[in-house]
Amino acid sequence: MLRVMDPSRLRARASGRERCPCCPDGLAEDARARCAGLLTAALLFGPLLLMIWLQRRRDVDGTRGPGRRSSVPAAEPNALSGRGSGGCSAADPVAGITSGVKIVLTGDGAEAARLVADEILAALRAKPNLVLGLPTGSTPIGVYEHLRAAYAAGEADFSRVHTFNLDEYLDLPAEHPQSYRFFMQEHLFSGVNVPAENIHFPPSEGDDLVRRCAEYEETIERVGGIDIMLLGMGRNGHIGFNEPTSSLASRTRVKTLTRRTLDDNARFYAEGEEQPVLATTMGIGTILDARKILLQAIGAKKARAVQAAVEGPVSSFFPASALQLHPDVTCYFDPEAAELLRMKDYYRSTRAHELRLKAEGRLAARS
Ligand code: F6R
Repeated sequence: MLRVMDPSRLRARASGRERCPCCPDGLAEDARARCAGLLTAALLFGPLLLMIWLQRRRDVDGTRGPGRRSSVPAAEPNALSGRGSGGCSAADPVAGITSGVKIVLTGDGAEAARLVADEILAALRAKPNLVLGLPTGSTPIGVYEHLRAAYAAGEADFSRVHTFNLDEYLDLPAEHPQSYRFFMQEHLFSGVNVPAENIHFPPSEGDDLVRRCAEYEETIERVGGIDIMLLGMGRNGHIGFNEPTSSLASRTRVKTLTRRTLDDNARFYAEGEEQPVLATTMGIGTILDARKILLQAIGAKKARAVQAAVEGPVSSFFPASALQLHPDVTCYFDPEAAELLRMKDYYRSTRAHELRLKAEGRLAARS
C-alpha cells in the first residue's frame, strides 16, 4: 500500500532535520542514534550496576540472600544470658578471631552489666592484684552493684586491687555529692575491700597540676599498667572527659568541658548551683594503654554515639572512635543503644562463633 507522507516531513527528512518521535526536541537522525546508544548502555550496564549494589548491601548488612545456605550459626539469644558466659577476660586470654573490637548485643542493660561484672570478676580471680580503670556516671552503676554483691557473698576479694578513676571535676571537694570521689565511694568503694591507699584519682585541687597529672601516669606505670579499663561514653563521643578534638595521643591533663557535656550533666546540679567547667582526665593515649577495654552503652540516647564509635571513621572529633585502634575492646550495648548499628547480624553471628569455639575449648591458651 502506498504511504503518503506529509510534505513538510519529507522536506525535513531531506534536510536531515526530521523530529524524533520519542524526543520531541531532538532531530531524527542524531537523536535516534543517541537514544539507541543510551538504550544499549542501559541494557548492558543496568543489570551489572544492580548486582554490584545488591552485593554491597549484603556486605554492609552482613546478611546473605534468601535461600542461600550459610555456615554462620544463628545467634542464640540465650547464649549470652548464662552467668560466666561473657567474652574473653584476662583470666581466659584468647587471641585470633576474638581480638580487636568485639560487639556484644545484650538483651537489656541489666544483662550488659552482669556480663561486664563477670569479665572483671573472672580477671580478678586470675590476677588478685588486678589494676582497674574506672568511670563514673549512670552507665557503670549496675556493674558496681554486681561487684559489691560478689564481695558481700564472699566471691571476690579486692584487697590487692588498685583502681584509677578516669576523671574528676576541678575544685569540687571530695565531700561534694557531685564529685566523682563521692560517687565512687557511694557506688563501689563503700561496698568492697579496696584499701584506701590503692584508690587513685587524677589531681583535682591545688596547684602544680601539670606535674601532678604526669605523676598520675607514673603511678599507673608503677603498679604495672591498667589491666581492665571500664568505659562509658558521652553522647558527643567523649570517653573520660576527652571531649571532641582531644588528641588521640593525649595523656592525663586538665580539660574544658563542652556545652553539650555541661547540659547533659546539669541534671545533677540544683537550680542556680555552680557547675564545674573544668576537669582532669586520663588522656585517650592513657586509655589506649590499658590491656583490655570494656565499653558499655545503654539507652536510645547513646544510639548515634554507638554507631559513630564503632562504624564511623577514627577521628579526634569523636573520641570514642579511637577505641578502634585498640587490640582488645569489648563493647556491650543494649538494644536501644545498638539501634543504629548497620552490621548487627554480623556482630551476632561473630559472637555466636566465638561462644561456640570457647565452649569447644578451642580458644584457651595452651600452657
Ligand atoms: C565519667 C566518664 C564519662 C561518662 C560519660 C557517660 O567518669 O568517664 O565519660 O562515662 O559521660 O556518662 P553516663 O554513663 O552518665 O551516660
